[in-house]
Amino acid sequence: MEKFLIKGGAPLEGEIPVSGAKNSALPALAACLLTDEAVTLRRVPRVRDIRTMERLLEHIGAAVERSDNGRVTVQAAALANPEAPYDLVKTMRASSLVLGPLVARTGRARVSLPGGCAIGARPINLHVAGLEQLGAVISQTHGYIEARAPQGLRGARVHFDRITVTGTEDILMAAVLASGETLIENAAREPEVVDLADLLTRMGARIEGAGSSLIRVQGVERLHGADHTIIPDRIEAGTFLIAGAITGGDLLVTGCRPDHLGALIQKLRQAGCELAEPDASTLRVRRPGHLKATDVTTEEYPGFATDLQAQYLALMTQGEGISFITETIFENRFMHASELLRMGANIRVEGRQAIVAGPSRLSGAGVIASDLRASASLVLAGLVARGETLVDRVYHIDRGYERIEEKLARVGADIRRVD
Ligand code: EPU
Repeated sequence: MEKFLIKGGAPLEGEIPVSGAKNSALPALAACLLTDEAVTLRRVPRVRDIRTMERLLEHIGAAVERSDNGRVTVQAAALANPEAPYDLVKTMRASSLVLGPLVARTGRARVSLPGGCAIGARPINLHVAGLEQLGAVISQTHGYIEARAPQGLRGARVHFDRITVTGTEDILMAAVLASGETLIENAAREPEVVDLADLLTRMGARIEGAGSSLIRVQGVERLHGADHTIIPDRIEAGTFLIAGAITGGDLLVTGCRPDHLGALIQKLRQAGCELAEPDASTLRVRRPGHLKATDVTTEEYPGFATDLQAQYLALMTQGEGISFITETIFENRFMHASELLRMGANIRVEGRQAIVAGPSRLSGAGVIASDLRASASLVLAGLVARGETLVDRVYHIDRGYERIEEKLARVGADIRRVD
């Protein structure tokens, strides 16, 4: 199994480029199922989750053509097999994103239930309830959700009991082909939802309010092909900003959207970092002095992203004082804490809160990645630890970061992939 071998201590300096957003590209690929015409997506990151989604689209019957420069063209002319099987869903729960588009386009879908995962239960009950509101008849057998709407979906009011990102995306994709008007209330406001709405609009959908908590959709009879560029990955960009901060370097994070990173930028400034925006798509991070402990509570967008919590926790091991890191989105997202303890961090986890006392002199150790963002936090800790850190199970990090070790090495990190 592949590992990262990291020798800590080097401050990162130079320019580090940001890839397209994994969590935008995933729903965009699923949206390609909504039309029989070809859809071209650009800036699709080459990460494992994207490959899994492409395999799922092929399994369903779409033709997927990918080129080296991040361009992917999908043509879903006929959908012979409208289902997401367990072996794909269990490796990537975002597979449930095909549920909405499949029912909308073919009147039926069969999607395996995801089961538990490293960061929490992650059910899809809200996706299912939303589709029922749109008139789908749902049954559950043998670990699969089956949805049927032989007469097509009809617009309705869909109120989410709690905010769900992929749930909002799933229902949005179903609603664009439903007859009449759909109102999605308590919708997720994440930039990835807005990006999906932009793609769907290019395909001929009629959507208002994406980016707010009320999305209004007027269903159309059919959608057509389109050409769309995926937004930059704000979580990758945020991870790099934290890498610059934790190593005390001077890093330019290029090709990003600073306006998507407001909550993190504010926290980094409170912690004593200097953040500048030399142009509309670049952020510069520097740390002139010591880091200060700062508290963080994860929230839905525009709050502090749960997907940056693990990385921020690694940063706070270097902050002076006590910081409280509170996780409100997932119930079990502190797996990285016990690995960071092995590197010498001082962290106590109490329920949904981690209490970090710093600064700690981290020392390199063998650690195990448990999920995508947890593994990123271990890499960050390795960049400042004395001696060698060996991060095992880096396939987790490959799910969502495009060649992270190459990007970090180019700005001065001593990191390489070993078998
Ligand atoms: N939830 C339910 N029922 C549902 C759906 C969600 O109870 O039907 C709960 C979840 O268990 C969780 C909360 O609602 O406690 C929010 O979950 P959400 O549905 O928003 O998460 P998601 O859509 O499954 C996306 C990202 C995650 C990111 C979360 C939160 C994608 C493909 N995934 O997941 O990204 O953490 O939103 O922002 O967009 C990652 O990239 O590492 C990652 C985990």
